Amino acid sequence: MRDGEGIEVRALEREFKGGIRAVDGVDIDVAPGEIYGFLGPNGAGKSTTVLMLVTLLPPTAGRARVAGFDVASQGADVRRAIGAALQESALDDFLTGYEHMDLQGGLHGLPKAERRRRGDELLERVGLADAAGRKVGGYSGGMKRRLDLALALIHDPSVLFLDEPTTGLDPQSRSALWGEVERLAREDGVTVFLTTQYLEEADVLADRVGIIDHGKIVAEGTPSALKASIGKVSLEAIPANPQDRDRLEAALARFGEPAASSPKGAAVRLDAGAEELADVVRALDSEGIAVSDLQLHQPSLDDVFLEKTGRSLDVDDGEEEK
Ligand SMILES: Nc1ncnc2c1ncn2[C@@H]1O[C@H](COP(=O)(O)OP(=O)(O)OP(=O)(O)O)[C@@H](O)[C@H]1O
Ligand SMILES: [Mg+2]
Repeated sequence: MRDGEGIEVRALEREFKGGIRAVDGVDIDVAPGEIYGFLGPNGAGKSTTVLMLVTLLPPTAGRARVAGFDVASQGADVRRAIGAALQESALDDFLTGYEHMDLQGGLHGLPKAERRRRGDELLERVGLADAAGRKVGGYSGGMKRRLDLALALIHDPSVLFLDEPTTGLDPQSRSALWGEVERLAREDGVTVFLTTQYLEEADVLADRVGIIDHGKIVAEGTPSALKASIGKVSLEAIPANPQDRDRLEAALARFGEPAASSPKGAAVRLDAGAEELADVVRALDSEGIAVSDLQLHQPSLDDVFLEKTGRSLDVDDGEEEK
């Protein structure tokens, strides 16, 4: 394990012109070799935080150290130590995968032979060996994200920043990328700071998760500790007859607080836990509400988000307030 090469963030702020405080007093500690998941909805402040940590945007207050260096006063040292695959990827459609790797290696001052060896090895590792001679304009979205990852790794960084690395990827490419990130952290001891809008990604991949909303961290911990802090099981039901939805919602409300559900149904966080299931079924039966589907959900990171912000992070769940 590499020592002293984590991330330390204190009271970090970024205010944009017009007074928008995109990042509003954030404290984060990421240990060397740890995978930290930075989870939040659109506009929460994830990319702004990452841009400050990779020295592309100066903080307006607070401080941060990455790999032991201060982002404001030791930018060049930070940049040597880190790799980053940013949300706005900067690939050139007219260059091949090989050419991108060669160029990036050159930027980091790697000698020709080393560039070649490292480039081939990384392209192989992200599954692009066969496509490496093709122009990037013909790559799929997933291939481009994998090339972004390979490029970020060319100079063997000790801290890796990935800003929404799997957005838009199919499930197969997503889990392949998760596997590679996990390997980097576990085998190579790389510290990973990864932003995501996907609950499952944070849950599966991150050792610890920070949930950010409106520029502030609203919850932080291991995925299991965060979920355990919510505790309650929720029950979701879909009425057989869509017209019964409101009556279903009212009936469920007697058993606890409403919870996020699909628009077709209703859900409740059961005050007395899963043992209450039989009572719920009897209540629905006695009111003549037939259900086509009934499911119990263990607490998820979305429940944590809902509890802290009053909104759901699940995609397509109602309107996002501004
Ligand atoms: N250069 C800028 N100038 C002014 N406002 C900005 C700028 N960059 C970001 N913002 C604002 O700061 C807030 C946070 O944006 P940011 O890009 O950090 O969010 P995000 O969490 O990365 O969202 P997404 O998931 O959509 O990528 C938003 O309200 C955004 O409009
Ligand atoms: Mg972003």
